[in-house]
Amino acid sequence: MSLPDNPNIAIVGATGAVGREFLPILRERGFSHGSLRLLASSRSAGSTIEHDGNSHTVQELTPSSFEGIDLALFSAGASISKEYAPIAVKQGTTVIDNSSCFRMDENVPLIVPEINRKALDNFSLPGIVAVPNCSAIVALMAITPLHRAVGVERMVISTYQAASGAGAAWMAELEQQAHDFAEGRPYTTKVLGRQYLFNLFSHNSPMGSDGSNEEERKIIQETHKIWADDSVRISVTCIRVAVLRAHCASINLTFRGKLEEDKAREILQSAPGVKVVDDREANKFPEPIDAAGQDDILVGRIRNDNSQPAGKGLNLFVAGDQLRKGAALNAVQIAECLVA
Ligand code: A2P
Repeated sequence: MSLPDNPNIAIVGATGAVGREFLPILRERGFSHGSLRLLASSRSAGSTIEHDGNSHTVQELTPSSFEGIDLALFSAGASISKEYAPIAVKQGTTVIDNSSCFRMDENVPLIVPEINRKALDNFSLPGIVAVPNCSAIVALMAITPLHRAVGVERMVISTYQAASGAGAAWMAELEQQAHDFAEGRPYTTKVLGRQYLFNLFSHNSPMGSDGSNEEERKIIQETHKIWADDSVRISVTCIRVAVLRAHCASINLTFRGKLEEDKAREILQSAPGVKVVDDREANKFPEPIDAAGQDDILVGRIRNDNSQPAGKGLNLFVAGDQLRKGAALNAVQIAECLVA
């Protein structure tokens, strides 16, 4: 069973950092759809968003928001997904959810189409499909083709995560702090409660008793689910950096088989959704400002890990637009799989 050809679409969280990306992506990809319903909190109800020459009025999300809707793209946080996704499904709406709410539910597929589209084979509509954690998507887009070639035994990932991952309010406050600096004022810290500009800090998700935070745990658990392989050993450190909208990660891989850097570069050059940016002479490698607004995940600093036996270890650096491939684009690609 699949979505109808021109599904009626609702966007939940349409005014948010990810929510605002959906309309341009639907248009760019020529995703044909019927009616569009833009939903957000009562704070935004009545405001308008322009799309394709039409002005759409944002409506308040209520339990009856899904009447006549075939597909709902959710990006309003886990508590909204928890409350409203089951209501939507009951009304016959299929939900693609960007929050962490259902990702580890064994009945909910967790999908990056380039990696595990097949996990949708037994999906029956209406239902919920989850979009993985944004840093997991960015890292796995580059790691998975290498994993398929020779098997990853262990990986160490260190993230450099942008403000966008925490939503529009964080992005606005980071920009405000730049104005504050330029104008010699004390930093505005209403949302963050701290200086972000010219700084970096440990990821703001809840800290566990073992000293790892929730973001780090998500990347480990979700990788195991997406790869359907719990045996890969994964160690993660997640850091917020004062970047507006693209996440980066430094990745160290230990292989089961053997893979040298030249072959790895060749594999990555033909990997879908990945662009190699690896110019040693020009010192040009993936940067968040280059990844922002792009669909592809940039990968570079591809080099043998010389602390390992030959071919057993590799280092990479990736940058990917967290709002696009890390969230909205991945959700639209899932929708495309459900229409096909
Ligand atoms: P609103 O703009 O009206 O607050 P972000 O991830 O950038 O923080 O965006 C969160 C999105 O979730 C926004 O569109 C926000 O709408 C929406 N949202 C937050 N709380 C609610 C709510 N209680 N009901 C519906 N939408 C909500």
